[in-house]
Amino acid sequence: MQDTQATAMQRQTIMRTGMQAARLGMLLTAAVLAMPAQAQDAQDPIVGQKLFRQRCASCHWIVDKPGRLTKSGPPLAGLFGRVAGTYPGFSEYSSGLVEWGKTWTPAALDTYIADPKTIAANTSMRIGYAGVRNSQDRAHIIAYLKLAASDPKAD
Ligand code: HEC
Repeated sequence: MQDTQATAMQRQTIMRTGMQAARLGMLLTAAVLAMPAQAQDAQDPIVGQKLFRQRCASCHWIVDKPGRLTKSGPPLAGLFGRVAGTYPGFSEYSSGLVEWGKTWTPAALDTYIADPKTIAANTSMRIGYAGVRNSQDRAHIIAYLKLAASDPKAD
């Protein structure tokens, strides 16, 4: 009789401990989800290439090769370190982007693709309704462009 009681109590203790562990697990998951994404954004150029193809490549070549039809946006070769709105031979820039006139850095690109209008109110670039809202997606795209924009063999 006593033995059975002890076993029941032990079982209860084990169950309580298990529930506490599960609850802690849930709290930790919630804490990770609540963390600001930028603090831990991974930068994976392979994922970035996939995202670039989905979200940017309809309007941008990286490299402008002879015989190619021009896309609606400028090629992105040599982007970082180049002044905005100055790709040689591209004549469709908005006045706003040209007036903004700053040198492209990864941080500036992050701002631009998050919401192109924050850089030039009349920009002719449209990425969906707004920009790439997910900072993790932007970090991957920028990681890809850091490699691709300086690679003469990129597409
Ligand atoms: C629907 C077409 C379209 C899509 C999609 C698009 N762009 Fe653009 N992009 C443009 C156009 C048009 C311009 C010229 C904007 C202007 O002059 O205001 C531009 C300009 C740019 C510039 C400035 C280049 C320079 O020479 O100063 C960068 C950088 C850029 N886009 C990156 C991206 C990235 C990265 C993506 C994907 C996340 C993207 N674009 C998606 C059309 C597009």
